[in-house]
Amino acid sequence: MKVPFAKPIMDEEMIQAAANALRNERLVMGESVHKFEEEFARYIGTKHAIAVSSGTAALHITMIASKVCGKEVVTTPMSFIATANAVIQAGATPKFADARESDYDIDPNQVKLVVSEKTAAVLPVHLYGQPCEMAPLVELCNKKGLKLIEDAAQAHGSVYRGKKIGAIGDAGCFSFYTTKNMTVGGDGGMVTTDNDELAKEVAKMRDCGRASRYIHDMVGFTARLNTCNAAIGRVQLRHLESWNERRRAIAGLYSQELKGLNEIGKPPLANKDSTPVFHLYVIRTKRRDELASYLSQKGVETAIHYPVPIHLQPVYIQMYGYKEGSFPVAERLGSTVLSLPMFPEMKDEEVRYVTEQIKGFFGGLK
Ligand SMILES: Cc1ncc(COP(=O)(O)O)c(C=O)c1O
Repeated sequence: MKVPFAKPIMDEEMIQAAANALRNERLVMGESVHKFEEEFARYIGTKHAIAVSSGTAALHITMIASKVCGKEVVTTPMSFIATANAVIQAGATPKFADARESDYDIDPNQVKLVVSEKTAAVLPVHLYGQPCEMAPLVELCNKKGLKLIEDAAQAHGSVYRGKKIGAIGDAGCFSFYTTKNMTVGGDGGMVTTDNDELAKEVAKMRDCGRASRYIHDMVGFTARLNTCNAAIGRVQLRHLESWNERRRAIAGLYSQELKGLNEIGKPPLANKDSTPVFHLYVIRTKRRDELASYLSQKGVETAIHYPVPIHLQPVYIQMYGYKEGSFPVAERLGSTVLSLPMFPEMKDEEVRYVTEQIKGFFGGLK
């Protein structure tokens, strides 16, 4: 059997929606963009949603609009590099607070230690679709007057204490890159917020700083979402809940089948506070690389998110002088995490095939 790592869904209805938009709408900022924004805001439960060209653009523009320039932003080293890059691109300095072993997310206790009088914002990442423990972060940010920006690039539809991820902090930043829980058939992103002023700034900034058609009152970017991509996004959004439900079921089956296999660490499933959406199902093992190549021989594709924590990327070492040992939990995670195949169309027998190979590897049975 061959099990791919991921399988983006692009069906006839989505292709038709794109074709209709291309034929009948303005190609940029057409009706589908506005409808997608309205529908996404309603889904997340925020007053506003502003469509942009990527998750990175969502973070970058939100950071600038949150006026972090010249200050520090506290985030996790255990993420995709775009999270911290956006901070630098907005003229601020990323300060890392280590991750924690229990859920791979940023550790709120570490955040408290890293926040200083130079901090302007905290940027937690809901890694793999697993909601961060937000209550202590909300409390800290309220107490210190800091902005709380959620990197929700991997967490479309995740819920924390009854609220959707992206509706808890001052803003949420989503990515629609092709492997995410929902895509727009290419790059795309969204900023969600209840703050009227922030929404206005972000909307202007993604559209060349336009105050009106010919008048520009800020230095903006061309970072809009194309109309045909928004049209695809609208159809995908209608499927998101059922796709997420299937991802949770697959995660449940993985965990059940791997129960009792003490050699590996498994991610937490849903609990009373958190409903994750399993963008990824990530196990941990000291024999990660060996296991990955064994699975590859058995036809099972895997991936690593992320083998090198952000602070140990060459450019961060050059810029900030980080060394190995700076953030030990993130480093430990980086050398042990392995992402197993995960996509809504994955069949139970494919999940069982993967878990049988894993059991075979540790037991030396197959
Ligand atoms: C956690 C995280 N932040 C930010 C991004 C950047 O999103 P994009 O690739 O759409 O620019 C991604 C995804 O690629 C991500 O996984």
